[in-house]
Amino acid sequence: MTLNTPIDMHLHLREGEMLKTVLPYSAKQFAAAVIMPNLVPPVDNKNRLIDYKEEIVQNSDNFTPLMNVFMKEFDEEELLKLKDEIFAVKLYPAGITTNSEGGVKSIEKIYSVLEMMSELNIPLSVHGETNGFVLDREREFIDIYKKLAKDFPNLKIIMEHIGTSEMLYLLDEYENLYTTVTLHHLLLTLDEVVGGMLNPHYFCKPIIKTPKDRDEIQKFVKKGHKKIMFGSDSAPHSIKNKLKGAAGIFSAPVILPALAEFFEGDLETFQKFVSDNARENFNINVPEKKVELIEEEWTAPYIVGNIKPMFAGKKFKFKVL
Ligand code: NCD
Ligand code: ZN
Repeated sequence: MTLNTPIDMHLHLREGEMLKTVLPYSAKQFAAAVIMPNLVPPVDNKNRLIDYKEEIVQNSDNFTPLMNVFMKEFDEEELLKLKDEIFAVKLYPAGITTNSEGGVKSIEKIYSVLEMMSELNIPLSVHGETNGFVLDREREFIDIYKKLAKDFPNLKIIMEHIGTSEMLYLLDEYENLYTTVTLHHLLLTLDEVVGGMLNPHYFCKPIIKTPKDRDEIQKFVKKGHKKIMFGSDSAPHSIKNKLKGAAGIFSAPVILPALAEFFEGDLETFQKFVSDNARENFNINVPEKKVELIEEEWTAPYIVGNIKPMFAGKKFKFKVL
């Protein structure tokens, strides 16, 4: 199986040593990735963004980072300066996930930024959760997505890492809404997190939900819905921090072997999900890169540095060459 120019539309690489440890896994499997800005301090200005991009470029070959900047109350001058350097602006509701304390406290406050983004054709990427009951947080955010979609009809909005099936129906209702789906929301349910022995390594935001949610997400992905794009949300934390309760799943090492099994030989839909949909929806132009998978048993790593990856030690039928 050969994939043409796979793109991960939602990736956390961190910085420094952690970046050096995790980046090779993404660079091996993907031509490009949308890089999330929730570092400490956040990537919320041009200088920091350019330095961060340079760190990624210096530590990879043949891999294009598409940078997201952390949403704040930008003025027009700042946004104009950022425009050519970024893929999107990432909106985190304040305190909703890892390193999002400096996020948005009230959406009204950023309406002028959204207006400018809409005019400048800069997409909006959203972590769509309220601070309500943990299993309802995405569902409660649906009204906010609807309002944003209506108030800014020319703004392309990405509902990131959806885990709640109702959100899928927004895609056909609102022309300007798109979504990313992770490997873990596609394949797992809450049972894998808390149904047996507690598995902190599968704890993430938004939390992985019910079999019905997973099955619906699978159905939409299998039928090749054009507005659904793969975004791993691979989010590494050291084992020590995971055991203290940090949210995030490090899925990067196993992505393409796991997806190859999920698509059961339907290379056409696989290709759309990991590349074509994103490239067409967002006019992404990155250097072409072919990534080959061969049918050969491969065991996912048990540990990578001080991080435990998703599906650690699991055997897969396909291996990335
Ligand atoms: C992410 C992280 O660790 O940066 N964690 C997560 O659970 N997904 C942040 C995020 O995307 O919410
Ligand atoms: Zn994320």
